[in-house]
Formats: sequence, structure tokens, C-alpha cells
Amino acid sequence: MNNTDIISKTITFVKEKLKNAEGGHDWFHIERVYKNALSIAKDEVCNETIVKLAALLHDIADSKFNNGDEGVGPETARAFLESEEVDEAIIEHVIKIIENISFKGGNFKKDFLSIELEIVQDADRLDALGAIGIARAFNYGGFKNRALYDPKIAPNLKMTKEEYKNSEAPTLNHFYEKLFLLKDKMNTPTGKQIALERHRFMETFIAQFYAEWDGAK
Ligand code: ADP
Ligand code: NI
Repeated sequence: MNNTDIISKTITFVKEKLKNAEGGHDWFHIERVYKNALSIAKDEVCNETIVKLAALLHDIADSKFNNGDEGVGPETARAFLESEEVDEAIIEHVIKIIENISFKGGNFKKDFLSIELEIVQDADRLDALGAIGIARAFNYGGFKNRALYDPKIAPNLKMTKEEYKNSEAPTLNHFYEKLFLLKDKMNTPTGKQIALERHRFMETFIAQFYAEWDGAK
């Protein structure tokens, strides 16, 4: 099968698999990551087929929605790629990317490095930043019934880990725990550049948020 065919078949497979996914991890997230990955890949020497397949399959079965089982995503992706008779070397590489892409690293040790992983990881991180990143964060917070913000549990209050864990952190805290840290974790020059722009946009948003919280002057 040629590369264009396998990509379009993968798109169909992923759309079908994610048709009931929640807003932060639906097909549109995959489509944005795919586009981000292609923009970054233009500036790198890499295997584009691997970048495309990994971007499309990276969230095929999120462990958060599979009782914490980190194996489901890679297994689902492998079964699909094998059924399409994709080269074993390509399958191996795509699976390694899926296993290594997550922010936390999951249960898998970071024992694998490749430019294709760096590109898709950057592309996924970019979708957690900027206007889309803000929308996704509050969508997730709503899903979990979290407060938008709570001055008693503000990120700049030095709570103990224990107090914090029991506090159901509001969504604004997520910016300090994760989103504002991402710009320094980017791998590629193109990814870094776009992350910085999106980071600044979030800083502007947060400043405006605090100003409005204190009431119109
Ligand atoms: P990934 O897409 O890399 O797997 P996650 O599953 O951790 O990332 O997060 C998906 C989206 O939900 C991201 O936009 C992330 O910022 C957001 N999110 C994750 N945890 C929280 C949280 N505690 N509060 C608000 N948003 C969150
Ligand atoms: Ni993702």
C-alpha cells in the first residue's frame, strides 16, 4: 500500500474510534496535532509518514479513560497498523512515540529519542497552549466540576502537598502546574517559537482574568 492510502485509512480509523471522545481528546484535537506536526516537520529532517501516523494515533486510547491502562493505546495502534500490513520498522517507531509522548511519561521510562517523537510531542504540547489550550483547560475543569479559580486555593499560596491534594484545585492552578511550564520543555526550534507566542497569550489572559476577578474599576 502506498503512503497516501495508509494515511487516509488511518484518518478514517481514528475518526471512527474517537467519535464519542470528550472535547479535549476528540478528532479535532488529533487534527490540530496533525497539522501542528506537519508545520514543525517542514523545518526538520524526518520521516513524514512516521510523524503523520504517530500524530494520528497518539491518543487512540487514553489511559485516563481505560482504567489507567497505559497499554491499550499502543496495542490498539499496533493491531491497526499490522492489519494494514505497514512495515514492522515503521510500526515499532510509531508505537515507541505513542508510549513516550505523554507529559508525565506514564509508566514508560524515557528510553527512546527520535526527531519524529520530538515533533509529535511538540505538536501535542502546542495544543495545550494558547487560546485552544485555555479552552481545553476549562473544558476539562468543567468536566471534573472544578471551580474556575479560588483565591483560597490560589497557585501562589504555599500549601503543603497534602493540603493541595485534598483541595480539588481550581482550573486556574493548572496553568501554573503544567501549562506555563511547557514552553521550556519544547524540543524543536519551530515548536519553541510557537509555544512562546501562545505562552504570552496565556499570560495576557491570566492578567485580564485577575483584573476582572477584582471587579470593574
Ligand atoms: P495530552 O493531550 O497530552 O494527553 P492531558 O490528557 O494531560 O494531555 O490533557 C488534555 C487536556 O486537558 C490538556 O489541554 C490539558 O491542559 C487539560 N488538562 C489536563 N489536566 C487538567 C487539569 N487538572 N485542569 C485543567 N485542564 C487539564
Ligand atoms: Ni494529545
